[in-house]
Amino acid sequence: MKSLQHLNKYFWKYRWRLVLGILFAVLSTFFGIYVAVLVRKATDFMTHAVAEHYSFEATAEELLKYGLLILGTTIISGFLMFLMRQSIIVMSRHIEFDLKNEIFAHYQSLDTSFYRRNNTGDLMNRISEDVSRVRMYIGPAVMYFASTIATIILISATMTNVSAKLTLYALFPLPILVVVIYFVSDLINRMSNKVQEQLSKLSTIAQESFSGIRVLKAYAQEEPTGNYFTTESGVYRKRYLGLIMTEALFSPFILLLMGLSTLLTIYVGGKLAIDGQITYGNIVEFIIYIGKLTWPVASLGWVTSLVQRAAASQERINEFLNTKSYLTPNHSPMGKWKKGVNSISFGEWRGEVEFKNVSFVYPNSGIKALDQISFRVVPGKSLAIIGKTGSGKSSVASLICRLYDVTEGEILVAGKKLQEWDLHSVRRQIGYVPQDTFLFSDTVENNIAFGVGYEKSSLGQVEQAAKSAGIFSEIERFPDKFKTMIGERGITLSGGQKQRIAIARAIIGSPQILIFDDCLSAVDTETEAEILGSLRKIMMEKTTILISHRVSTVKDASHIIALDQGRIKEEGTHQQLMDKHGYYFELYKMQMADEEKKNDAEILPMQ
Ligand SMILES: Nc1ncnc2c1ncn2[C@@H]1O[C@H](COP(=O)(O)OP(=O)(O)OP(=O)(O)O)[C@@H](O)[C@H]1O
Ligand SMILES: [Mg+2]
Repeated sequence: MKSLQHLNKYFWKYRWRLVLGILFAVLSTFFGIYVAVLVRKATDFMTHAVAEHYSFEATAEELLKYGLLILGTTIISGFLMFLMRQSIIVMSRHIEFDLKNEIFAHYQSLDTSFYRRNNTGDLMNRISEDVSRVRMYIGPAVMYFASTIATIILISATMTNVSAKLTLYALFPLPILVVVIYFVSDLINRMSNKVQEQLSKLSTIAQESFSGIRVLKAYAQEEPTGNYFTTESGVYRKRYLGLIMTEALFSPFILLLMGLSTLLTIYVGGKLAIDGQITYGNIVEFIIYIGKLTWPVASLGWVTSLVQRAAASQERINEFLNTKSYLTPNHSPMGKWKKGVNSISFGEWRGEVEFKNVSFVYPNSGIKALDQISFRVVPGKSLAIIGKTGSGKSSVASLICRLYDVTEGEILVAGKKLQEWDLHSVRRQIGYVPQDTFLFSDTVENNIAFGVGYEKSSLGQVEQAAKSAGIFSEIERFPDKFKTMIGERGITLSGGQKQRIAIARAIIGSPQILIFDDCLSAVDTETEAEILGSLRKIMMEKTTILISHRVSTVKDASHIIALDQGRIKEEGTHQQLMDKHGYYFELYKMQMADEEKKNDAEILPMQ
């Protein structure tokens, strides 16, 4: 239950709706009970009229009066119930909205290792399914609880007032009902948890199959995947049917106990009425009360199970909400800068990057990716990092973007420790093209403009960025040019086209630091040279970090670092490294040989 305390701040935020809702619940219950009182009066009048031989007209007129009163009271009670729903259920929708936003904002603030630990299906489920269950507590549970308590207090007070003895008999089966329902709810609760777990699993399977649909189809794995899905769906169906079966036993049981109550009331009440202790109207009144009490009392058990389910869901939500990004962002989640933290303005910023004996171990896997790395790049210069796969090149890029914090040593940006800068401001000054390019299913224009935010960019800027990235003329040939949709709802781009759009996205905001992680790997060396040529103008005033496998990409950089197993194996300019006849030289020779072989292969068919 503790987990639900998280929601108190929201109850406080919407306290007036809540207070009004509870007030409406009490009032509606009051008028609902008053109907029974009117029925009692009408019945007593009838018995009286029959005994005293009243005229038909007089009896009819009086009964009509009661009829109209009952109708009016019911309408008032119904209208109040409507107002109660309007306040409490609407409040629950507002809280649902706020909670979803809170979770989403928190997801976004978490570092990348969180996303490696948790799968997307789980993330999605907590923000949709779990929030819905929590809403059942905020809305229906609170509402039913308020009206149930009001009903129990008001009805038992009215009943005891009439006859304590009859009340005892009439209400005798109800505690049994509460206890049984509580245990059954508990059972239902456990069963529904299992159902929920299975649903999470199903979403994950579906989500992964669809995002990996191309691989799935290429390996002709449709049938096995389909079978897997069917099996898991079967488990889900079995569990769900079990749950429904248990739930179905509920209503008959409640009806049985309700019948027992009614029977006792008529028997005991009848004897009391014959003795003259109560009127016949009281018996009718009591039967209405039992009807009115049974469902709310039964719903107590149901509400308990709703609350328990909500608590379990909120616990899952809290687990994520309490996950802290281990990066200290230096700003509050709402984007307000914390006092005393340097938010960077363009003027004072100089994109100098320095690594001082940086070592880095991936927190989730314990792999030591970098070992005692030191270098310094200043604006206008470029640093190239070359090395075999797994040598730690991308890790350097991740550290500059502060996707992770260093394990040892420090990174200085513009002469200040990276951690001391405001995280967002730093990232805004970095144009990062990751190794695995990701484009949204949106237009080409929006994908490029994403680098500065859609609102802040003009088409001219987007076009300029596309030109510098060497993709402009290709975009012009797309069916809708810059308005062409990419991805699921539009055209499919080649690897090289994607990479260049990602480059355009990185440079559009003219950031001070450019990081290109293997971003030309999917284009041929000739195109690469062209793109690098046009990027050179942009790189002139910026700090550039170029990461590549290929010597051809890095050879013109001001300084080259050759990484091997996280260590700097060699460094210097292209010429210095060539003269050394070491690691870099070997790499160069190997790649030149490959290139020649490729050229030969291209020539062969023409002979
Ligand atoms: N997110 C991660 N979590 C844990 N370990 C990682 C992660 N990313 C990379 N590693 C590990 O860190 C080491 C360096 O990886 P890195 O991605 O920096 O290499 P790279 O030089 O960029 O390789 P490539 O040329 O293939 O891109 C590897 O051993 C890799 O398995
Ligand atoms: Mg890499």
